[in-house]
Amino acid sequence: MNVSANISTSLAAKTVLLGVTGCVAAYKSAEIVRGLQKAGVRVKVVMTEHAGEFIGATTFRALTREPVAMRLFDEPGDAIHHISLAKEADLFLIAPCTANVMAKIAWGIADDILTTTALATTAPLLIAPAMNVGMYENPATVENMKMLADRGVQFIEADEGYLACGDVGKGRLAEVDVIVARTLEALEVTCDLAGKRVMITAGPTVEAIDPVRCITNHSSGKMGYALAGAALRRGAQVTILSGPVSVSAAQGVTVVPVTSASDMLEAARACFGEADIAIFAAAVCDMRPVASATSKLKKETAGESLRTIELVENPDILATLAAEKQKGQVVVGFAAETDEVLANGKKKLASKKADLIVANHVGNGIGFGQDANKAWLIKANEVIDVPEMPKDDLADIILNHALELL
Ligand code: CTP
Repeated sequence: MNVSANISTSLAAKTVLLGVTGCVAAYKSAEIVRGLQKAGVRVKVVMTEHAGEFIGATTFRALTREPVAMRLFDEPGDAIHHISLAKEADLFLIAPCTANVMAKIAWGIADDILTTTALATTAPLLIAPAMNVGMYENPATVENMKMLADRGVQFIEADEGYLACGDVGKGRLAEVDVIVARTLEALEVTCDLAGKRVMITAGPTVEAIDPVRCITNHSSGKMGYALAGAALRRGAQVTILSGPVSVSAAQGVTVVPVTSASDMLEAARACFGEADIAIFAAAVCDMRPVASATSKLKKETAGESLRTIELVENPDILATLAAEKQKGQVVVGFAAETDEVLANGKKKLASKKADLIVANHVGNGIGFGQDANKAWLIKANEVIDVPEMPKDDLADIILNHALELL
């Protein structure tokens, strides 16, 4: 691959912080530095002391012409070095990354300059693991990688082959060209939403009947959180107004937890005015009980209040805010339908005054809680049929269209 062919003026102002950990493949990090530099990227290196057993800081200092961080307190001119490094990075690439460092980052352990920087940074994190096959396949490593991926960390999978220890299997650091290409790709996409504010409603709302009972909708929040992660990776400032969910947001996303539709409207209104793109992915309860009891309703004494619950309509958050839309704002809504997906989606585009509706089929095990989704993107003059794909990829397609409408 000819890396220099990827040179882009937008990359010239970018800084990649390259983390190097204690692994035989650490010598390849020097080639990664060169590959990124050829593409016009500024590279700074932070390494663990164990990495220093495999490659010297002098090599990286000579290649990058930048100070190399190896110990927490070895930069007398910069008392809180990990914070300044964390802020300087447009992207934090850790290649090679050992199982140990991955585990520390997954669990928030910060006991050296590399892991404190990883904990402090809001830059996207890209990890290229390298280790023995047994360590790679150990359930602890698998769990840690999953935990990180759920938080928006991207991985460059290790290759299979002969490993330094003599074993054969998965665990070889990916090819340098692949690591460089993936890093440049991650930096490129970082650019197109830079300076934009994106707000997203996500998850279900919960409407209390009494302190122990509620009305709610099915929603894992995965689509909203995938959108938040994708927008963040592309450089946006992202706020997510979220009902209760078990997924976690990518590091750097501002999460405002809410419970009811009224709470969600209030929180969404507080950021809508500033938002360039507002995405309404929440499964909002259309109705709430007229009154919510402050004490538990007992079957024996308040059975009637439980048998028939009087409901009142909730505000339509999307329609309310879209009516206040200003020039230069794009509003994206969803339409989760069991029947007539396209017809209902088109109706919602008009009735809610959205610029784009993402319509999808739900029910009977389709849609909710899954990692993939099939959708139609409905605009005023166009319907785009998007095949089933992971929600992370669909998120990027939705953002591409929202950006086009901006
Ligand atoms: N929505 C909202 N506030 C509501 C209801 C819906 O913001 N009170 C938003 C959803 O987040 C979604 C879109 O409106 O972006 C469509 O939601 P959906 O539940 O599919 O439709 P409803 O408007 O509730 O209509 P219906 O239930 O009749 O299909």
